[in-house]
Amino acid sequence: MKTLIKNIKELIQVRENNVSKLSGKQMSTLPTISNAWLLIKDDIIEDYGKMESLPSLKEVTVIDAAGKTVLPSWIDSHTHLVYAGNREQEFVDRIKGLSYEEIAAKGGGIINSTAKLQQASEDQLFEQASIRLEQVIKMGTGAIEIKSGYGLTTEAELKMLRVAKRLQKHYPITIKTTFLGAHAVPKEFQANKKEYVNEVCNVMLPKIAEENLADYIDIFCEKGYFDLEDTKQVLEAGKKYGIRGKIHVNQFNAIGGVQLGVDYDVLSVDHLEVMKEEDIDALKNTNTMPVGLPSCSLYIDIPYAPTRKMIDAGLPVALATDYNPGSSPNGNMNLVISLACIKMGMTPEEAINASTINAAYAMGIEKTHGSITKGKKANLIITDAIPSYGFLPYSFGNNHISQVILAGKIVE
Ligand code: NIG
Ligand code: FE
Repeated sequence: MKTLIKNIKELIQVRENNVSKLSGKQMSTLPTISNAWLLIKDDIIEDYGKMESLPSLKEVTVIDAAGKTVLPSWIDSHTHLVYAGNREQEFVDRIKGLSYEEIAAKGGGIINSTAKLQQASEDQLFEQASIRLEQVIKMGTGAIEIKSGYGLTTEAELKMLRVAKRLQKHYPITIKTTFLGAHAVPKEFQANKKEYVNEVCNVMLPKIAEENLADYIDIFCEKGYFDLEDTKQVLEAGKKYGIRGKIHVNQFNAIGGVQLGVDYDVLSVDHLEVMKEEDIDALKNTNTMPVGLPSCSLYIDIPYAPTRKMIDAGLPVALATDYNPGSSPNGNMNLVISLACIKMGMTPEEAINASTINAAYAMGIEKTHGSITKGKKANLIITDAIPSYGFLPYSFGNNHISQVILAGKIVE
C-alpha cells in the first residue's frame, strides 16, 4: 500500500540515515525541503523530493498538504504514563503553599500514587493509560517511553510493565519500557532502604528480565530517595542483565548522579534542573543524552534545566514531557517545545531537534525514528496551514496538528 503526500509547504527534519544525534552546534539547523512530496510504502518512508521532480505514480492514496508543514512525529523519551487515578488534592495543596517535597514528606507524592496503583487491576490500569495514550497520539507523539515505578512491589511493578507492553500490542505508536523499581522507598522499607534496593535488584529485576518486560532501568537519584551507592547498585544490576540505564538525576540537588551515570554509560540523564559546572563537563564527549523536562519545571515551579548553557557548551539535548500524576500531568510535546523556547532560551530549530532526532536517541530508536529519512518509520505530523514551522512554538498552547500518521496509516 502506498500513500503520497503532495504539495507540502515545508517538509522538515530531512536527514541522511547516518545521523544518530546532534551536538549543540548541529542543533541550530533544521534541514527543510519546501514545496515537497513524500511517499510512504506500508509503514516506511520510501522517498521524498521537490514537487518539480514528482515521479508519476499509479495506485497511490493521495493526501494534499497544500499550505501545510510535514514533520516526523514527536518522540517522548521520558514518561510515567501508566498510573492509577490522579493527585488533584496535591495540586490544591501546592496552590496553598506546600512544596512538592513537603507534600511527599507528609505521605503524598509517589507513595500516594503507589497506594492507588496497587489497588487497581491490570484492566483498569490499561483502560486509564489507553485514554492518555490516545490523547498524546492526537497531539503528535509517535514514540513514547513508559516507566514503571508506582508499584514498588514485585507484583505491582510487573503489572505496570505488562500494561505498557499490552499498550504496544493495541496501538501503532512505538513504545519502550523502563523498570523504575527504585522510584521511592515504600513505607514497609522506610527503616531499611538497603533491603528495598536489594529487593529491586535481586528479586524484581530477575523476574522482569525473564519476562523481557524492560528495555531500560531507571532510579530516582536524589536526596531523600536514593543515593549514589544505591544508583551504582541498580545500574550494576541492570548491566548484569544487559539492561542499560536512563536515570532521574539533579532534579532538586546535584549529588554526583550525572558523573555516575556517565561512568555507567547510561543512555540518558533526565531532569537536570540543578546543574553544576562539573555536571556539564562530565557529559562532554559521552554517549549519554541530557534530557530536559520543562513541563515538570512549570508545573511544580522549580528551575528549568539550563539547556541553553548545555547547548552552548556543545552538548546534545533532548526534551520530554515526564507525563506523570504528580509533577507533570500533561503529555503534550507541543507545549514542551514552546516552553523550551520561552523559558529555556532554545530556538525553534533546537527545540524541534531536541524533540525528534535527539529524543529518538534518548529512547534508543534513532535508527528508525526521529527524522524524515528513507527507510525510517512513517510516523508523521501534518500541521494545518501555518506560516512556517517556527509558528508551532510561537503559537503556544494552540493546536496546529491536522493529521497524524503512524506506521504509514492515518490515525482516525
Ligand atoms: O520525574 N522525580 C521523580 N519522579 C517523577 C515524579 C513522580 C511523581 O511525583 O509521581 C518525575 O518528576
Ligand atoms: Fe520522571
